[in-house]
Amino acid sequence: MTLLILFFLLHLNNFFQTSSPQILPGNTTGYACNLNQTAPSCHTYAFFQVMGPNQLDLASISDLFSVSRPMIAKPSNLTSLTSPLFPNQALFIPLTCTCNSVNTTTNLSYAKLNYTIKKGDTFYLVSTNLFHNLTTYQSVEIVNPTLVPINLTIGQDVIFPIFCKCPTKTQLQNQVNYLISYVFQPYDTISSIASRFGSTTTSIVEVNGDKIRPWDIVFVPVSRLPELKQPSPTVSSDHRSDRSGEVIGLAIGLGVCVVVLFLIGGFWVYGESLWKKKVGKNKIDPESKKFEVEVSLMADVSECLDKYKVYKIEELSEATKGFDERLVIQGSVFKGYMDGKYYAIKKMKWNACEELKILQKVNHGNLVMLEGFCIDSNDANCYLVYEYLDNGSLYTRLHDSKMERLSWRRRLRIAVDIANGLQYIHEHTIPRVVHKDVKSSNILLDAQMRAKIANFGLAKSGCNAITRHIVGTQGYVAPEYLSDGVVSTKMDVFSFGVVLLELISGREAVNEEGKALWVEVYENFNGNDEKGRHKLKGFIDDDVLRGPCSIDSVMNVMSIAIASLHRDPSRRPSMVDIVYALCKSDDLFTDLSEDGFSPRQVFAR
Ligand SMILES: *[C@@H]1O[C@H](CO)[C@@H](O)[C@H](O)[C@H]1NC(C)=O
Ligand SMILES: *[C@@H]1O[C@H](CO)[C@@H](O)[C@H](O)[C@H]1NC(C)=O
Ligand SMILES: *[C@@H]1O[C@H](CO)[C@@H](O)[C@H](O)[C@H]1NC(C)=O
Ligand SMILES: *[C@@H]1O[C@H](CO)[C@@H](O)[C@H](O)[C@H]1NC(C)=O
Ligand SMILES: *[C@@H]1O[C@H](CO)[C@@H](O)[C@H](O)[C@H]1NC(C)=O
Ligand SMILES: *[C@@H]1O[C@H](CO)[C@@H](O)[C@H](O)[C@H]1NC(C)=O
Ligand SMILES: *[C@@H]1O[C@H](CO)[C@@H](O)[C@H](O)[C@H]1NC(C)=O
Ligand SMILES: *[C@@H]1O[C@H](CO)[C@@H](O)[C@H](O)[C@H]1NC(C)=O
Repeated sequence: MTLLILFFLLHLNNFFQTSSPQILPGNTTGYACNLNQTAPSCHTYAFFQVMGPNQLDLASISDLFSVSRPMIAKPSNLTSLTSPLFPNQALFIPLTCTCNSVNTTTNLSYAKLNYTIKKGDTFYLVSTNLFHNLTTYQSVEIVNPTLVPINLTIGQDVIFPIFCKCPTKTQLQNQVNYLISYVFQPYDTISSIASRFGSTTTSIVEVNGDKIRPWDIVFVPVSRLPELKQPSPTVSSDHRSDRSGEVIGLAIGLGVCVVVLFLIGGFWVYGESLWKKKVGKNKIDPESKKFEVEVSLMADVSECLDKYKVYKIEELSEATKGFDERLVIQGSVFKGYMDGKYYAIKKMKWNACEELKILQKVNHGNLVMLEGFCIDSNDANCYLVYEYLDNGSLYTRLHDSKMERLSWRRRLRIAVDIANGLQYIHEHTIPRVVHKDVKSSNILLDAQMRAKIANFGLAKSGCNAITRHIVGTQGYVAPEYLSDGVVSTKMDVFSFGVVLLELISGREAVNEEGKALWVEVYENFNGNDEKGRHKLKGFIDDDVLRGPCSIDSVMNVMSIAIASLHRDPSRRPSMVDIVYALCKSDDLFTDLSEDGFSPRQVFAR
């Protein structure tokens, strides 16, 4: 076999010596990136054509590129993970492209792939024969400065830099969402590549110049991944199976999002048990086990299929430019644009889908609204799609010095909104829901600066449970939960008290020394006397004092906060009491405000 490949290579070389005597790749050491222009990382694809007898099954290619088989099958339009590949079959290999600094002056753009050296390997042979010139041995040497290329040991791990590029800001604006890595073949012309990928010659030349030689990498700019027309597989043994067998094959390839559509399309008359039975019978592929898990997950969320829009992973990927890091709002939440509207798209492992089950039970103006979801079986991720709130989190509003300061009136409204949202989940859901992670960064503000509670990722339904698995955020967690793991609505009341302190003081829940704000309050405020009043003035955010504000109103909110922070959970007020007391404080404020209009005054006249 090796002889065959060698013969093949020699043959190609001869062919080239006739047409162009010197074959030197354009950028042998790699492709520079500039973090001023591109994201530090992005998802992209390499075009890869199956060659040689050792690459005729998907498993060996997925091993080579360290990705799962479905991750290649899906973008490549393969319906089966197990049927053999054909010579010259085209595949799209997903890459995580990053900008890496190699020395003080240069950053190179590539996807890092681990490769374990086997007998007879050299950097050159692996780059040209296995990775088909998607990298060069020169670049492998630069990326692995500690390795001696002529003295490699078998079993040694080497990073192979697969060349890739992330789109620049201008390219993204021009709808160039991917730059597909393609190795220019001897028979290619720029226009043949353009038509194959649905790109244009001008845009390819813009990115790559017009002096492209065989085996050079061409970055093909496209707005979406082109469809690969795969040759239809010869009749396989799978064909004897019935209709749902076909559905299973498809679903494994295309992901559960498709299954969801089938389910909606009336397919679920088959019933969950039948699905499970069918899958149980289907022992041909280890993937089927994963599929079984997915089916049971779908059963879990089947109640909300009619309530929410079910998105396809492609839609979400497009909306977020392939989950571009620059669109991250916070953590794993991305800002996405679909159908003329912005959405917040949260990516999580599907076992975290608890949030979906909780959210389908709640619906209130002060809770962030869930619009839809998507389950992607390929990487076992679950995506929740929420309404997008323009003004970001309360945390940023309060603590980012670049933000416009919030007036006391606004802060009070925000406090009332949060209290209303919490009152709703505590009192009007069966079983009761405890949020468990109330904090200013989980409070979002809409265009009118009305507050909504977000992130039910830790929420629990059912009350007075004991848990050994302590979650939550330092500075907000109630002491009884930390020490005994008691889950009750009163732990949300405690965290809400901390948010009130943040609103009053404009300070963070935990200071630089790691001391919690509520501990400070325990130490300094006990009793509503003259001394307490004086201390309070020092505690209030200067920005609040500068604007219109009534000290009585702040005082009142402070006493609500102190009551909410009571060490004994049973002596903390309920959210119902708090909503009532806060509204009273709102009244107090209206009386004394200087905006010249007070409902009560009007009433008095
Ligand atoms: C790569 O090639 C391009 C165009 O030929 C050139 O502008 C660039 O300087 C080369 N080197 C690197 C490291 O990108
Ligand atoms: C190269 O990367 C480093 C960090 O890895 C960054 O600080 C520097 O600005 C980058 N330089 C360029 C030219 O992008
Ligand atoms: C990146 O931007 C910074 C500030 O805008 C500038 O100082 C730096 O020289 C730029 N780096 C490159 C490589 O363009
Ligand atoms: C940094 O690496 C690039 C690419 O390998 C090379 O062209 C350049 O000479 C190197 N610069 C230094 C200072 O080593
Ligand atoms: C690749 O190798 C590096 C160390 O060489 C290791 O830290 C990393 O986890 C490896 N990645 C994978 C995906 O195996
Ligand atoms: C990779 O490039 C070399 C020339 O640099 C060529 O001989 C070889 O056939 C190419 N490999 C493949 C798989 O196209
Ligand atoms: C080759 O590597 C081995 C161990 O990795 C080392 O013992 C040996 O001295 C090296 N030989 C040369 C010529 O560098
Ligand atoms: C997938 O390939 C088949 C041919 O095997 C083709 O008919 C179909 O249109 C392709 N689908 C996509 C989404 O590219």
